[in-house]
Amino acid sequence: LHVAVLMGGWASERPVSLMSGEGVAEALIERGHRVTRIDMDRQVAARLADADPDVVFNALHGVPGEDGTVQGMMDLMGVPYTHSGLATSVIAIDKELTKHALVPHGIPMPGGRIVRSEDLYQGDPLPRPYVLKPVNEGSSVGVAIVTEGGNYGNPINRDSKGPWQEFPSLLAEPYIRGRELTTAVLGERALMVTELVPKSGFYDFDAKYTDGMTQHVCPAEIPENIARLCLDYALRAHRLLGCRGTSRSDFRWDDELGEEGLFLLETNTQPGMTPLSLVPEQARYCGIEYGELVEIIIEDALR
Ligand code: DAL
Ligand code: MG
Repeated sequence: LHVAVLMGGWASERPVSLMSGEGVAEALIERGHRVTRIDMDRQVAARLADADPDVVFNALHGVPGEDGTVQGMMDLMGVPYTHSGLATSVIAIDKELTKHALVPHGIPMPGGRIVRSEDLYQGDPLPRPYVLKPVNEGSSVGVAIVTEGGNYGNPINRDSKGPWQEFPSLLAEPYIRGRELTTAVLGERALMVTELVPKSGFYDFDAKYTDGMTQHVCPAEIPENIARLCLDYALRAHRLLGCRGTSRSDFRWDDELGEEGLFLLETNTQPGMTPLSLVPEQARYCGIEYGELVEIIIEDALR
């Protein structure tokens, strides 16, 4: 096959996407496919038309590669592409919209609300500790945990550095103490549960992409009922959102509260494919090597 690998772009997750894309491109070449690498710019439609591939492997993360924009463009062009389509991407990239899609179906997600960043200087939107995050970023870009100790000032002050300086509105959610879990779905199967244990602080951008900064416990050492719930929620979220190919749902689990303490934070429709990424790792545990995983995702796009 002739596969165009779409990567890069101008999202804050550009470096992650370049790593995902390069991994995918190398695996495809190794398996005998012809590959055109496309670092996305605003001429991407013309370049795709020029390349005229059989299928596009979408290795973009963030906006506009994960939010439906690029998906809509490829729909218009009539070129088959991997991962989720337009409508799913629009909903899943937005952590607030995702709640509207999943919570009524019994998938627990943290409560919370959208706040104007400007209003944070007046007072806390929720009791501390709480989390502030952009609704549509990935890789923990722009995430702040506001703690009891007043780490950003009390109230948050204008001089403290945080996402409120960059994003006019933010999602505020109660901070869920405890553990970080994730489950990949491939095709119609939830693979397994991994626990992420950062060596220090929280599972932020550096902890995600610096080798050795986070321990991946795969399969997670958690009670059977919690693991079963993660698999169930991840598969149901994948279906309810209408995801295609693969997705990965991230969770927080307050282990003092048992099943009641498990919350889905979000479903990623363009999960990372870097060497440290979780979907490839879970697939490997299930006997699916990286190259085979890429092939399965492509076959799914051509179905
Ligand atoms: N947003 C990153 C790429 C992930 O979900 O893996
Ligand atoms: Mg994400």
